[in-house]
Amino acid sequence: MAIKCTISEVGRHVDQTVTIGAWIHNKRSSGKIQFLQLRDGSGYIQGVVVKSEVSEQIWDDAKSLTQESSLYVTGVVREEPRSQSGYELTVTGIEIIHLTENYPITPKEHGVDFLMDHRHLWLRAPKQRAILLIRAQIIRAVQQFFDSNGFTKVDPPILTPSSAEGTTELFHIKYFDEDAFLTQSGQLYMEAAAMALGKVYSFGPTFRAEKSKTRRHLIEFWMIEPEMAFVDLEESLRIQEQFVSYVVQSVLENCRKELETIGRDISKLENIQGEFPRITYDEAIEFLQGQGFDIPWGEDFGAPHETAIAEKYDKPVFITHYPASIKAFYMKPDPSRPEVVLCADMIAPEGYGEIIGGSQRIDDPELMAQRFAEHSLAQEAYQWYMDLRTYGTVPHSGFGLGLERTVAWICGLDHVRETIAFPRMLYRLYP
Ligand code: 4AD
Ligand code: MG
Repeated sequence: MAIKCTISEVGRHVDQTVTIGAWIHNKRSSGKIQFLQLRDGSGYIQGVVVKSEVSEQIWDDAKSLTQESSLYVTGVVREEPRSQSGYELTVTGIEIIHLTENYPITPKEHGVDFLMDHRHLWLRAPKQRAILLIRAQIIRAVQQFFDSNGFTKVDPPILTPSSAEGTTELFHIKYFDEDAFLTQSGQLYMEAAAMALGKVYSFGPTFRAEKSKTRRHLIEFWMIEPEMAFVDLEESLRIQEQFVSYVVQSVLENCRKELETIGRDISKLENIQGEFPRITYDEAIEFLQGQGFDIPWGEDFGAPHETAIAEKYDKPVFITHYPASIKAFYMKPDPSRPEVVLCADMIAPEGYGEIIGGSQRIDDPELMAQRFAEHSLAQEAYQWYMDLRTYGTVPHSGFGLGLERTVAWICGLDHVRETIAFPRMLYRLYP
């Protein structure tokens, strides 16, 4: 009787007969032997069908198998040091589930639009699978880091009555008779949670109706948002360094094979530990102007600016103390220089851009009220947020890490569209 197992489990069954549910990834033949490249999601293994050792039926069934056909394959597990998995299957039986005809994605090159239209099938490609495994490991590492450092996971709402980051990029929906918006950031709610639990973090989807068609923007993306009571900007930056280092090192430890599959230069990631460099907004402007960029003080950075700054370093770099005028309403002004705020963006190396945005938050109720007025934010909608300052206000800080940009950087991908199973992008909602 054959043992049912997955490809990842065959190592436990050397010299035994196993049955695996699988798809044909690829196939080649040398007359008297057929080599089936099998995949089952858990891994890859080669199945060897030897004409002289199987019935005519099995030989013919093997012959009929096409790319992405599904089957139960039975065989004896052999150790095979020359193969990538370390094992090989000597096939003794084949039960075809479905013969696939004309699978649209062939081993030849396809254009990106074609692949995006077939994203539901493209996911089966080894590179796409590797990326999703790395993404899952990043999520695991994020949770391990915060769970083991005294943070409590809290889930902010997705349907919200007001905006967190400004009103222009909101997805507007109806909430029965009221207006509502899909969340852009859970931050404001996480501030409330921090006042209840001290150190909290969220991990959830966020939505931005940004008309940006760049390799760094998604319409729907996932964010990790820690918020910490009694923590100032300096302390928050320390936590961010440790957090990002932990995540990168954990991927290096757990995803060697996947990083190899996608061809990532691992030496670039090995550097990511210890303290990260810092530069103020003022210094960044001066540097950029020195490089010939035409950018006045007070303007926000775009992708080329971020890339030019990041190129000076082999680790992520913090840009701190931006002008208040280009940052969100809730950021605390620097007491010694109120035109700049106690904030930092973390810019990833190698041109991947901003992966974290964060700040110390305004804790003074009067200044907060003033900001609402300046930004024409409806007081009623934010009354609950004001209450956090009215009842036991404390210094607090937090930040948001964009998951997809982090995956793009760690995997070394050109575009965020490959970092999530079904990307939502400007003018693309299918599949
Ligand atoms: O800098 P952002 O807008 O910050 C916030 O939303 C804060 N409320 C976070 C906080 O302090 N709790 O966004 C944070 C990060 C960015 O650094 C970027 O990595 C990612 O979210 N991000 C996007 N990722 C993909 N597509 C988009 N359109 C993104 N917009 C932001
Ligand atoms: Mg930002």
